[in-house]
Amino acid sequence: MYLTAKKSKKLKGKVNVPGDKSISHRALIFASQAIGECKISGLLESEDVLNTKKSLQKLGINIEKKRNDYFVSGNGIGGLSEPDDILDFGNSGTGSRLMIGLLSSQNFKSYITGDSSLRGRPMARVIKPLEKMGAKVNARQGNLLPALVEGNGMMLPLDNYEMEVPSAQVKSAILLAAMNISGTTTIIEKERTRDHTESMMKYFGMDIKISEKNGRNVIKFTGQKEYKAKNIIVPSDPSSAAFPIVAAIITEGSEILCRNILINPTRIGLFETLKEMGARLEYKNIRTEAGEKIADIKASYSPDLKGVKIPAERAPSMIDEYPILGVAAACAKGDTVMNGLAELRVKESNRLELIKKGLIQNGIKAVEKGDSLIVTGGKLKGGVTVTTHGDHRIAMSFLVAGLVAAKPIKVDEPHMIATSFPEFKGLMNKLGADIR
Ligand code: S3P
Repeated sequence: MYLTAKKSKKLKGKVNVPGDKSISHRALIFASQAIGECKISGLLESEDVLNTKKSLQKLGINIEKKRNDYFVSGNGIGGLSEPDDILDFGNSGTGSRLMIGLLSSQNFKSYITGDSSLRGRPMARVIKPLEKMGAKVNARQGNLLPALVEGNGMMLPLDNYEMEVPSAQVKSAILLAAMNISGTTTIIEKERTRDHTESMMKYFGMDIKISEKNGRNVIKFTGQKEYKAKNIIVPSDPSSAAFPIVAAIITEGSEILCRNILINPTRIGLFETLKEMGARLEYKNIRTEAGEKIADIKASYSPDLKGVKIPAERAPSMIDEYPILGVAAACAKGDTVMNGLAELRVKESNRLELIKKGLIQNGIKAVEKGDSLIVTGGKLKGGVTVTTHGDHRIAMSFLVAGLVAAKPIKVDEPHMIATSFPEFKGLMNKLGADIR
């Protein structure tokens, strides 16, 4: 199956983008460890998140949907039971890595797998720090999934662990393992990554302290302390909102409003960059809900987009947004220089390669230099099929490109969009896009 996007008229309207993927995974996991029932509102019902939900159910957690909310009955810290089946996380690096952390300090064995993309993604980044704490994880050759997490109820806290990769998934895996370990784990981050795990730990009243030392982020967490259930409201995902927002910015005459978008500072690198490029983008009605800052975002057609240089330090706050930024850069005047992209090579696909390839196929100059990508704005010619390697964000980005390209753009494996944003096509077409 393919999806094709054609040159579209202006995009207009107000939309609700679905819940944040990172917070949705964490909401389910933290609710499963609480004492009592948590109500989760606005949970993202994408394949990735539903795989985390199914895994928790296999671990003995009761999760029910009533109307639009999910009710999770937590059994407390260490209250999971051995699953009698393999836990399959599908396409999700977040689901698998966070759960490897949580499961490493339980008293039973778990077998973990995922789809062909996930089975090719590096797991050493989580296994190595967890092993320092006493975890036993038997992965396939090269530290790849499938893996057997042996489970060790006697693990030790990590002292002053300096993060080797700027990854919120790794940081969260360590913190989740530490929940069932007595003593204090300290993690030091040079580059700040998304902090939803820490925010949720604070929200539940857990023993976590965050400070800054010599420009580095120091996280201290003491585990094996029970916490009570609380309700969670999941804000809308800025990484999904990025697609209609960029579409509106590059499509003549457009003006859209995306409601309730998470604007946590560790997630809004793309919006900052777009503003620097001259995009007409405004935060309205800024407020805080369940410990996270949210706003309605108005985005309008911005005819004078110009290329900018994006510092490597900003990469963690927009790591999932480079594919769609590549499309915005193709529509801007001059060069957009994106630095510090090494992590893009180990996402759901080698995204650095696929952004470059897809742009070149569409007549745009894109050059890779070390860990940087330089895109020179031009005319997207379309009339091509973009190979996505099953990567949802590559698919959505080139469909957005198709809305302004001279000829239609077709993408393969569009079913993968359901891993993060099942409503993408319907929502875009409701705004006026032509995607079929
Ligand atoms: C995520 C962290 C990021 C991001 C992913 C979600 C998370 O990955 O790319 O989509 O929820 O923690 P890394 O932590 O590996 O950079």
